[in-house]
Amino acid sequence: MFTTELATVSYIGATILFILSLGGLSNQQTALRGNLYGMIGMTIAVLATVFGPQVTGAGLPWIIGAMVLGGGIGLYAARTVQMTQMPELVALMHSMVGLAAMLVGFSTFIDPEASKGFVGAAKSIHEMEIYVGILIGAVTFSGSIIAFGKLSGRIGGNPLLLPGRHWLNLAGLLVVIWFGREFMNAHTIADGMVPLMVMTVIALLFGIHMVMAIGGADMPVVVSMLNSYSGWAAAATGFMLSNDLLIVTGALVGSSGAILSYIMCNAMNRSFISVIAGGFGTTSATPKPADGAAQPAGEVVPVNALETAELLREAKSVVIVPGYGMAVAQAQHTVFEITKFLREKGVNVRFGIHPVAGRMPGHMNVLLAEAKVPYDIVFEMDELNDDFPKTDVVMVIGANDIVNPAAQDDPTSPIAGMPVLEVWKAKTSIVMKRSMASGYAGVDNPLFYKDNNRMLFGDAKKMLDEVFIALKA
Ligand code: TAP
Repeated sequence: MFTTELATVSYIGATILFILSLGGLSNQQTALRGNLYGMIGMTIAVLATVFGPQVTGAGLPWIIGAMVLGGGIGLYAARTVQMTQMPELVALMHSMVGLAAMLVGFSTFIDPEASKGFVGAAKSIHEMEIYVGILIGAVTFSGSIIAFGKLSGRIGGNPLLLPGRHWLNLAGLLVVIWFGREFMNAHTIADGMVPLMVMTVIALLFGIHMVMAIGGADMPVVVSMLNSYSGWAAAATGFMLSNDLLIVTGALVGSSGAILSYIMCNAMNRSFISVIAGGFGTTSATPKPADGAAQPAGEVVPVNALETAELLREAKSVVIVPGYGMAVAQAQHTVFEITKFLREKGVNVRFGIHPVAGRMPGHMNVLLAEAKVPYDIVFEMDELNDDFPKTDVVMVIGANDIVNPAAQDDPTSPIAGMPVLEVWKAKTSIVMKRSMASGYAGVDNPLFYKDNNRMLFGDAKKMLDEVFIALKA
């Protein structure tokens, strides 16, 4: 249906739409449009590929069958997955990209048709594409599976630190380079298969080792890093299949994932190299007991919903800091009801969003947008931090690590140096959570014991419902 010319034009159109999509996704106001561009671009790309010149009649039913099956599974997963499980779903999807790159690599290698016409330098380049494509695909596949296991709690969050692990990785790299040479020198498919298999096994083990060595607190960066890898794996697949669109799209995903990883490293005051080197994130300064609760390190002042409503009623300026617990409790709609109520009473209500609040980039923004919180009262951490001394009440809703003063005060803390929202500088802070348990990084939070801090214990949605009733009374 699509001639070569029409397919090329469609690919260019899809590429432009993908770039516009990335541009749109960088801002909340334009994110919807960005998504729309992406969807149109992907539809064009799929149609131009499936009905394009590279697909012959006999292959079409297979492709359509696979699309219906894959699309069905994707639709089911997207409809049933909870918002808080999104990072693990994303990790699982990255693993699929890696697996696809591996399978395409092997099938390209054993298919005599695929390497027909390649001689001399072109043949070497083609073989290199296969080798590197399978390498990136295998690392992405196994690394993403481990990331999925860690994020879903199937595998413990503690970093696995094998003795001499950097030397182990270096040895693996040297073996991969050596077998790469063997692969390029092989004359038959059978000869080439041995080095290819050895490299694949090493790459799979490397992916497992790399992510196992990364501690819980660095997992957000790992997810975005694997996102970047999956982009490069797709680009490698594009080279193997001589598909320009796949190369460009893969490069877009690869580079945007790398930029996101860099931004997240900055948000957590971590260097990218130290994240990859692993070993950070779960060894807390105060050892964490088995039940996950931090050791009591002082007295806290509990308040009830009535007292919280009283504090809010008297405030002129309120900042709400949402975290993972707000997502778990699905409290965003009540948060908005309270916001609306207070704003109608003339209170200046704003939201302070930490770049790694929740469990995925933009997690809080998505929830607040869903609850219809106006964009112009949602601020980034840097925009609000100077305003806390002038704020009457800060409501911390199911957040913990992102408001932990130990990041600034305690150089021995595992989260030392991570920028945080300085909520303790407000006149009063109220932390809403169910218990004294620590957050994702597993560290105690000295904020809870400060004189101007109050604790409202309970499920965020339940407590906020009570606060709202008390406010209206
Ligand atoms: P956390 O530090 O994980 O704290 C969340 C708090 O919510 C917990 O202490 C928990 O205390 C409370 N909570 C859980 N369920 C609740 C409920 N139903 N009602 C009320 N409270 C509830 O979250 P944060 O402050 O948002 O920080 C995010 C952390 O996750 C950072 O360490 C970050 O590095 C990490 N992380 C982020 C991402 C991205 S990209 N955003 C991805 C993975 C990991 P209780 O159990 O006592 O209720």
